[in-house]
Amino acid sequence: MRACIAGWGTALPDGRLTNAELEQRVDTSDRWIVERTGIRERRVAGPDDSTATLAIAAGAAAIKQAGITPLDVELLIVATATPEQPIPHTGAFVGEGLGLRCGSFDLGAGCAGFVYELVTGASLLASGGLGHVLVVGAETLSRIIDPADRTTAILFGDGAAALVLEAAPDDGPGLLSFDLGCDGSLAGLLEIPAGGSRRPTTTETLAEGLQYLKMQGPEVFRRAVRVVVESANAAMTRADVASSEIDWFIPHQANARIIDAAASRLGIPAEHTIVNIERYGNTSAASIPLAMAEAADAGQFEDGQLILVSGFGAGMTWGSAVLRWGRA
Ligand code: ACO
Repeated sequence: MRACIAGWGTALPDGRLTNAELEQRVDTSDRWIVERTGIRERRVAGPDDSTATLAIAAGAAAIKQAGITPLDVELLIVATATPEQPIPHTGAFVGEGLGLRCGSFDLGAGCAGFVYELVTGASLLASGGLGHVLVVGAETLSRIIDPADRTTAILFGDGAAALVLEAAPDDGPGLLSFDLGCDGSLAGLLEIPAGGSRRPTTTETLAEGLQYLKMQGPEVFRRAVRVVVESANAAMTRADVASSEIDWFIPHQANARIIDAAASRLGIPAEHTIVNIERYGNTSAASIPLAMAEAADAGQFEDGQLILVSGFGAGMTWGSAVLRWGRA
């Protein structure tokens, strides 16, 4: 059995943060941000939004689009780096909001989280004989960004996207191959140093701003291009497809320059690469499914086409997958 994509949905908060507004807050410029990242604006959660409210809206849209009911969903996975609260897991809130009573869990693999949950959901669907699995990537990164840190404040945005995975025959559409990895020796490149068991929140950690995301941007950048290319090649090799056969490359939307460099090294032309970073910035686990859902809504995909997804993130994690578009 194989897992194909039967439905998709997105949810974006109404709030927009433009480069012009960032110019008023930190020492930066629209020109620097556009040239170095490709980002023009990002969405920002309002006081009534949270990771779970966005995930619920995206999940409900995906369930509706798939033409199934919540009772048809037999497993829920929520990939996020910005959980609703420490306990319980975000999936508990999302399941309740969607009217689910199936099993649920959260998956943490940074910005590669969507690829991890796609692979996990597809595998559990196939091995457990499940009919439908809902996978959601949802983030409110604005809650963990230091508004005074120009190196991160310009990059990240909020949003959610969900896919319904559905059982398909072995020779049908769906997930064909994957590659997952993590080099924990690089954990310090991208981290929130305090607020966990190693360093619980104290007045000192708050005074030092250790509740915020810290990133060694240039080092992440340098490694990102390499891991995306290596991982994407590994996934294509396992699927026995060449990059010239890939109809659509959907990379994690972290930086337009990373995307351009990776696509060029993979030999995938820009017109086959899906990029929406200018409108949303880096939405971590939501970024790949958001780009996929938007392209699907725009009618870009045809049944039988090959799609390559590839992400990287805190950990440092990476993950790629090849799938054939279409519903069984
Ligand atoms: N505005 C203006 N100038 C800036 C800004 C800013 N926002 N940020 C840095 N600068 C300055 C620097 O101080 C430096 O100045 P100097 O030359 O006088 O020293 C200069 O611009 C160049 O800085 P770099 O950091 O070398 O710039 P770079 O081209 O590497 O771009 C960036 C920085 C955008 C952060 C880039 O490194 C990047 O995108 N890295 C990858 C980040 C990433 O993908 N993170 C997500 C990982 S996924 C996850 O799990 C969350």
